[in-house]
Amino acid sequence: MKHYLEILKKKKLLVVIYILLGIVVALLNAFSASYFQKVLDDCGDKTLSITTICIYGFVLVLICCLNYSDEYPSCKLSQSIYLEFKLKAFRKMSTIDYRYYQLLGTGNLIQKIENGANAGKSILFDFYFRLFSELLPSIVFSLIFIANIDKNIMIYIVIGYVLVFVVTNILLKYLYDIKAHILNNEEVFNKYVVRGFMELIVFRTNKKFKHEIGKTTIASEEIVKSKTKMRMIHEAFFAIFALFITLIKVIIIYISWKNNELSVGDLVALLILIDKAYSPIAIFNVLFVQYKLDISAFRRYTDLLDMPDDVRLNSGKIVNSIEGNIHFKNVCFSYEDKNIFKDLSFDIPAGSSVAFVGESGSGKSTIVKQIMGLIKPDAGSIYVDRNDLSELNLNKFYNYISYTSQESPIFDGTLRENIIFDKDISDEAIIEVLERVGLTSFYSDLPKGLHTEVGERGVMLSGGERQRLALARVFFGDAKIVILDEATSAMDNITEELVMENVMQFLKNKTIITIAHRLGTIKNVDKIYAFKDGKIVGVGDFKELLDHNQYFGQLWNATMEN
Ligand SMILES: Nc1ncnc2c1ncn2[C@@H]1O[C@H](COP(=O)(O)OP(=O)(O)OP(=O)(O)O)[C@@H](O)[C@H]1O
Ligand SMILES: [Mg+2]
Repeated sequence: MKHYLEILKKKKLLVVIYILLGIVVALLNAFSASYFQKVLDDCGDKTLSITTICIYGFVLVLICCLNYSDEYPSCKLSQSIYLEFKLKAFRKMSTIDYRYYQLLGTGNLIQKIENGANAGKSILFDFYFRLFSELLPSIVFSLIFIANIDKNIMIYIVIGYVLVFVVTNILLKYLYDIKAHILNNEEVFNKYVVRGFMELIVFRTNKKFKHEIGKTTIASEEIVKSKTKMRMIHEAFFAIFALFITLIKVIIIYISWKNNELSVGDLVALLILIDKAYSPIAIFNVLFVQYKLDISAFRRYTDLLDMPDDVRLNSGKIVNSIEGNIHFKNVCFSYEDKNIFKDLSFDIPAGSSVAFVGESGSGKSTIVKQIMGLIKPDAGSIYVDRNDLSELNLNKFYNYISYTSQESPIFDGTLRENIIFDKDISDEAIIEVLERVGLTSFYSDLPKGLHTEVGERGVMLSGGERQRLALARVFFGDAKIVILDEATSAMDNITEELVMENVMQFLKNKTIITIAHRLGTIKNVDKIYAFKDGKIVGVGDFKELLDHNQYFGQLWNATMEN
């Protein structure tokens, strides 16, 4: 409910206008049907006056005008509600707890959001708004005008409503399962499609596309089958309902003919009013079924919105400067059942450079994610200067930390955007940095220069180019702590040496944490921590470790062999 209310609050005025317009149109519609009775009867009695014709004409014109005006709030509301639900999901990504983010898959996430935004719009706009602005007023006004002609008929119609409602609820039970089946398959379908688009090379070379297309085809067939089944049940109900109303009309004609109680005007008005009273209930039923089905799609979407946020992002102690000391004190951490660290303690003094080395899976990247506050220790503490990291406002802390990962995430945008994001920096300054990261010749071959689009995830660049581009970002920040998690792993040795020399030169006096598998790049750091299975098994500078630490010696030999 809170998700609907948040959206409604933003559009209060428009909602009120929309509902009021609907009520007025419903009243005028019912009035025009009833007034038609007078026009017909006056016509029959030859007493029809110009005033009666004018009033009837004016009401019809007014209905037309109001119906047109209604389109403005209607279109604005439906579109903005749908997009607002999508934006809400996007905003959620900026605050979601990183541990939960890791569990989400892109393909089904996108489909979940698409289905959820559609369902949310449909629940608010097609159900609630229509109910209050159109259906309920139409039903109430028609019943009032019908009661004016004959009270008993009104009572029969109300009994008809109850019957229709009961049948609808029985029908719904069948539809829920079908709807859940459709949603599941839509998410599966999108998951396969998105991963196929993203992993073209892996899938093509592993001949995986055939299997993927097969799975997607099965999901699509299931969707078509279930949607058709749902439509047929829905429409069967609609057809039965139409028959039911026709029957009522025939009975009324029969009764009025038999009793000879109603005038022609009465009879015509009554038939129009029955249509007016029953078509909203028919529409209501369709919308009610849709509403109930939408709820299940919307719940999947709100499950996402209700995932825990990282509360530390925007609350906690605000730091306005940091020196860059990092202290791990008895930190313990496990991913579900998998223990990663136990009582891990170490110190990184401000302005020093350290390297984490160790076998793959030994926990190096997990440590840096903890330094960035993305994942929290299960026990123990991490201090930045004298501040407990778990008490810091992370968004403020991020002003002082820079992170370049082994994947070097490059996004779909221009070269310029990828280096400086939204900062206001001259082209000359950017080009100078491109030289420092060894991208001068790459850059000079680009006809569009800094405005070249690099493609999604930088597909137009080589792995090493992507990493150098990501490293160029470091030169435009004033971070105190710089983390390079295998940031040069895709570069050749010569480029790596040149780039790292420039980067280290620029970063002197900052706290630098570098993670590397090729140990040649970390010869000059102040201290090296060697990790094995989440434990520190060696500490010292390069020479000390090489001379005295067997594990480090093995890692170095492996580097040399490569
Ligand atoms: N989200 C996760 N859920 C469960 N286990 C995880 C998750 N992320 C990492 N792990 C596990 O935690 C361990 C440490 O991973 P980590 O990424 O820190 O290793 P690493 O030392 O950086 O390895 P590499 O050198 O290959 O990058 C690994 O065994 C990995 O499988
Ligand atoms: Mg790693």
